Amino acid sequence: MCSIIGYYGKGFAAPILVKGLKRMEYRGYDSVGVATESNNQIELKKGIGKVNEVNSKIHLDTLPGKIGIGHTRWATHGKVTDFNAHPHSSNSGKIAIVHNGIIENFEELKKQLEEEGYNFKSETDSEIIANLLQKHYEKTGDVKETILKTVSEIKGHYAFVAMFENGQLAAARFHEPLIIGIGQDDFFLSSDVLGFIEFTDDAIYLENGTFVILEKDKFQILDFDGEHAKYGITKVSKEFGDAYKGDYAHFTLKEIYEQPETILKAGEKSQEAIEKTVDYIRHSKNIYVTGSGTSYNSALIAKQILSKYAKIRVDPIIASELQFAPDSIEENSIIIAISQSGESADVLEAIKIGKQANCKIIAIVNLLTSSLAREADVVIGMNCGPEIGVAATKSFSAQLVILYKIVQKLSNNKITINFEKFAESIVETLENTTKIQMIAGKLKEISDVYILGRGINHPIAIEAALKLKELTYIHAEGIAGGELKHGPLALMDTNVFVIIFNPNDSTYADTLTSAREIKARGAKIIGVSDIESDVYDYWIKIPKINQVLYPISEIIPVQLLSYYAALEKDTDPDYPRNLAKSVTVK
Ligand code: AGP
Repeated sequence: MCSIIGYYGKGFAAPILVKGLKRMEYRGYDSVGVATESNNQIELKKGIGKVNEVNSKIHLDTLPGKIGIGHTRWATHGKVTDFNAHPHSSNSGKIAIVHNGIIENFEELKKQLEEEGYNFKSETDSEIIANLLQKHYEKTGDVKETILKTVSEIKGHYAFVAMFENGQLAAARFHEPLIIGIGQDDFFLSSDVLGFIEFTDDAIYLENGTFVILEKDKFQILDFDGEHAKYGITKVSKEFGDAYKGDYAHFTLKEIYEQPETILKAGEKSQEAIEKTVDYIRHSKNIYVTGSGTSYNSALIAKQILSKYAKIRVDPIIASELQFAPDSIEENSIIIAISQSGESADVLEAIKIGKQANCKIIAIVNLLTSSLAREADVVIGMNCGPEIGVAATKSFSAQLVILYKIVQKLSNNKITINFEKFAESIVETLENTTKIQMIAGKLKEISDVYILGRGINHPIAIEAALKLKELTYIHAEGIAGGELKHGPLALMDTNVFVIIFNPNDSTYADTLTSAREIKARGAKIIGVSDIESDVYDYWIKIPKINQVLYPISEIIPVQLLSYYAALEKDTDPDYPRNLAKSVTVK
């Protein structure tokens, strides 16, 4: 969730690190810090806030030296304070570290170190790494031995970069991402290729349970037994370096507007993988679809469209829940794992369980170099370009388009979809946002929004609620239309808004009746439909299209509504509080 970065080279480290941190800010953004080494001395600056805010206050990028480390934080242990921000230095000040992950036995180690006379300034689990390194380095005087001893003592999931006063950098990886960028005259260490992509596209993905030591023009990669580890240099896609807002006020808005293109490009470069997936599905008795958050909501849609159009039963499973019911996975099945980042810890854990049951793993993923992509048997690329806004928008549409393509093939083309025409209709939605902006203004003072949908529109109601929660902090709940009278109707009064997904499909008449029942209780109704009705206080028109595509055409206006309501409420749509784009801890 946090981002870590390191630089060793001929340029000044601090401005390079700050730039890289800015690009990786989507991973966590409650505080930021940088430490550099020059003349055998470590200097460190850190503070709470986003990279630009902190940098303009305390000028992280002016630290001297050509070696350095940096961090953006997403708090797990300890509040958001200057002390808890990284880097953390050891008691002697001769070693500084940045860490991503969780050290599970930190309390025990901290107690031990305190008994040995070490002090701690922060409430974090990370600070113990700095002092453990100091303890072992003072004894051995050797970076390799120091790292080996340290990793043998810490338990949990981690990636850390350590900088020693003599200018050596070392970094270790255990179940958290860590990539080495190999430049012309420099080396980079980073949680994500975005940390260095503008300098080099040559990367080494460190294997789990390995570490690297960088010193003057050379590096060595070793495993946790101290043996030389195998590695390969991969060319990473420069495409993901292209993460700029352009003329848009926010990444989220830009990404919402990119969706016509997303619809045309999703899965485009993965035809063979789609064919293979179809083949696997045809020959497997059990198919599970897993993911977290928005990607799980895609799994719910997968269940509906596969059963309706291909008569195939699939079981959607929330990725984080699988560990509590591993026996629900039948041996030799298929698990379709959906993840934009390919780094969600819960999803990686879920496929681990699947692999233990000898399942084939199919990944639908945006980042083709991610851990999920590297673990999977078949990889389908979303091909929607970098998604920086924490709220998933275009990646959701890309996931659905890929699922449609799979279903199309499974149904022997019984369903026909004209994606070009569909993309054009979405352009129309995106060109007519005045009404959506007006409705967003009405949500400013509202604390509860309920969202109703039946059938395939129910998962969209859940996804719409997630968008509203994330972007506006309004309490929002997706409800299956038929469940209204079984409880939620009690909540309907003049203080609430209800969004009704009511397209012209088999759910239309029943959902219209629900809308009337809600209206009778005084709630305001926003109807998202291709048919106008007097029951709606506000009507958001969606295109009249092939029924199967309603989910995408319904969610886009609500993405916009959530975005504009966020502006009304003065929240930051790109970086909602407490969240991170890539949830790499369990
Ligand atoms: C969606 O708006 C959220 N930010 C979040 O639920 C996200 O979809 C989830 O964390 C899964 O991420 P992934 O697709 O990268 O695995």
